[in-house]
Amino acid sequence: MKPFLFFYYLNKSMVFFETYERKQIRMISSSCYGFNFLLLLSIFLGFSTLVFGGNFNTDFDNLFGDERVNIKDNGNSMTLTLDEYCGSGIVSKNEYLYGRFDMDIKLVPGNSAGTVTAYYLSSVGAQHDEIDIEFLGNLTGEPYLLSTNVYAEGVGGREMQFYLWFDPTEDYHTYSIDWNPDRIILLVDGNPIRVMLNRQSIGVPFPTKRPMRIYSTLWNGDSWATRWGEVKIDLSNAPFIAGFKNFNADACIATEDRKCRGFNAGKNRGLDMESKGKMKNVLSKWVVYDYCRDLRRYAHGLPYECRKENILQLD
Ligand SMILES: *[C@@H]1O[C@H](CO)[C@@H](O)[C@H](O)[C@H]1NC(C)=O
Repeated sequence: MKPFLFFYYLNKSMVFFETYERKQIRMISSSCYGFNFLLLLSIFLGFSTLVFGGNFNTDFDNLFGDERVNIKDNGNSMTLTLDEYCGSGIVSKNEYLYGRFDMDIKLVPGNSAGTVTAYYLSSVGAQHDEIDIEFLGNLTGEPYLLSTNVYAEGVGGREMQFYLWFDPTEDYHTYSIDWNPDRIILLVDGNPIRVMLNRQSIGVPFPTKRPMRIYSTLWNGDSWATRWGEVKIDLSNAPFIAGFKNFNADACIATEDRKCRGFNAGKNRGLDMESKGKMKNVLSKWVVYDYCRDLRRYAHGLPYECRKENILQLD
């Protein structure tokens, strides 16, 4: 990056990330036809259940946008639509405590500036936990930004952003969240792009206490999403449509006492040498922003989890 651009980015990033923190609230208040809050009450089963597979018909409820959620193919695929009035989204019926969640997504093509396509886990209530994968749209021919974040006990601000090494609007690609008590791994087509280790032992919040639901949403985030809010959505291109298919959860549905018995942490046992090599390659080429390197934002010292001994070493 040219030095000038770098400073420009830093200036803008301060505002960007403040806005970003408030985005969820904005999404809810600006959503049309009412947000289905009732769905989000916790319902616990008396025993933990391990689940494999996934289906949009049986595993999800409509969150907002009514008929803009279009489930097809016996529940194997779905499109979400954002039109001039409203976006749309779904939320899982179950609350999971740990698991691996895969989704194939094909993003809004063409001029998608201002649109946000999100795939994330979140708990509800105060001090919530959240693991985010979000795609910030762009003008035709300009790159999408894959924006990731982890909230634990209400503390977020752990953004890491990437460009993709393919055109995510041309075809479906698999995006995965792999979460267990030891670590969170985010993957694109099986390539790990981000790992957050559990460092509760040194006081870094990590999501271990609150079961989370999985969400997919498409909405208008043009106050902040594209070039820090400078490029607005062009509603003359509406409807904007994103495709989803092959949802797969290899996960545990929590018990009342918020435990998962017999869950073997899925496939998430850390990274082998090959995966480390893949991740190293992604980190060297595709990272746009990493909060752990933002010395301006953290002028008084980087967060603990950013210290070398708390980051997965790839060599
Ligand atoms: C959009 O494209 C511009 C110019 O290439 C780039 O700086 C930006 O990171 C891209 N993504 C977003 C979401 O703004």
